[in-house]
Amino acid sequence: MFETLTRVPVDPILGVSAAFQKDTSETKIDLGVGVYKDEAGKTPVPRAVKRAEQDLIAAQTSKTYLSPIGNPGFNLQVAELTFGSDFGGRKADLALAQAPGGSGALRLGAELINAARPGSTVYVSDPTWANHIPLLGSAGLKVEKYPYYDPINNTVRFEPMLDALEQLAAGSVIVLHACCHNPTGQDLSPEQWAAVADVLARRRLLPFLDMAYQGLGEDLDRDAASIRLMAKAVPEMLVAVSCSKNFGLYRERTGLIAVLNAGHEAASLATGQLGRLARTLWSMPPDHGAAVVDRVLSSPELRQDWMTELRHMANRINSLRTQLADRLTASTGRDFAWVKQQRGMFSRLPLSAEQVVAAREQHHIYMAPDGRINIAGVSPSNVERLAESLAMVMQG
Ligand code: LMR
Repeated sequence: MFETLTRVPVDPILGVSAAFQKDTSETKIDLGVGVYKDEAGKTPVPRAVKRAEQDLIAAQTSKTYLSPIGNPGFNLQVAELTFGSDFGGRKADLALAQAPGGSGALRLGAELINAARPGSTVYVSDPTWANHIPLLGSAGLKVEKYPYYDPINNTVRFEPMLDALEQLAAGSVIVLHACCHNPTGQDLSPEQWAAVADVLARRRLLPFLDMAYQGLGEDLDRDAASIRLMAKAVPEMLVAVSCSKNFGLYRERTGLIAVLNAGHEAASLATGQLGRLARTLWSMPPDHGAAVVDRVLSSPELRQDWMTELRHMANRINSLRTQLADRLTASTGRDFAWVKQQRGMFSRLPLSAEQVVAAREQHHIYMAPDGRINIAGVSPSNVERLAESLAMVMQG
């Protein structure tokens, strides 16, 4: 039977990590997969997460099943973190389910949309996270793009984006990056978010916000402003939340799908459907990461410590942005100030596919094929060599 299967192409993001591991150069630089790295180049477990894990192991008396929608304490804590302490006045309209990471949350959201309106069309930004298209498509949705990034001026193509949204059929699903756009780092301004929310509400389009980097752009509240604004503007929306980056829980697969409904009756139906769909996909989500997040967020001491460490991570990324932008400007004679304005882990360098290969083969610099770099992989000790090597590649 399996001889009929075809070979899978290398994953554009995970393939970079695999290639980096094989490189024996001592000066290699990994700007590939989006994981936070500290001053020593390590991806740490936050102190509060470590403490919560120890507390949980000491206190846990059973590992019996929870339910397909997971840990209710986690679901509520994370929903509050994203929607705000008053849930925008719409707590009763929310259907929540824990999911295996942000990807699991996106998948569960896509399955819910497909259950409600089979074969719906979902629009993603051009460009978007490389996995959005296969992930949403494999739930049975049609995936199309709306204009988003202008790689010449390194800004959002805002007028074309709004014009495109104005043309879409009612009921179309619009995936938006809540903050820290992946792969460009170029977010909408608050005024642009307000204009998008207005079009979505007026044209009866369904927003599906992907929140994978809360706290790593500006801060926890400002990064969630897009979700809070949208929840006031539209009757229905979905939010997929990942705790991979801001809690450092990557491999624990910790995420939440939050569905905002038009009323509490609809929310109760959606909760039942999320449970049914989860049961068919993975039966129940893994417990550990969600139990840790629940513990961190419900302990004032651990929560404060986590927020302090998260603040440090965001500050460090933003300081690396400044160092890289200044060095690139000096080495190339071109203006890279836009790298400082962007937010989150990524920016996309103006490199062709051939130049990305040249950076890897000639300078041992690893990045995604579209020129996306993980800013957290830059460090004060490699930034000079990095900028000079990239300048050579850009001139070559
Ligand atoms: C990334 O964009 O690098 C991360 O979200 C990791 C992944 O799963 O692709």
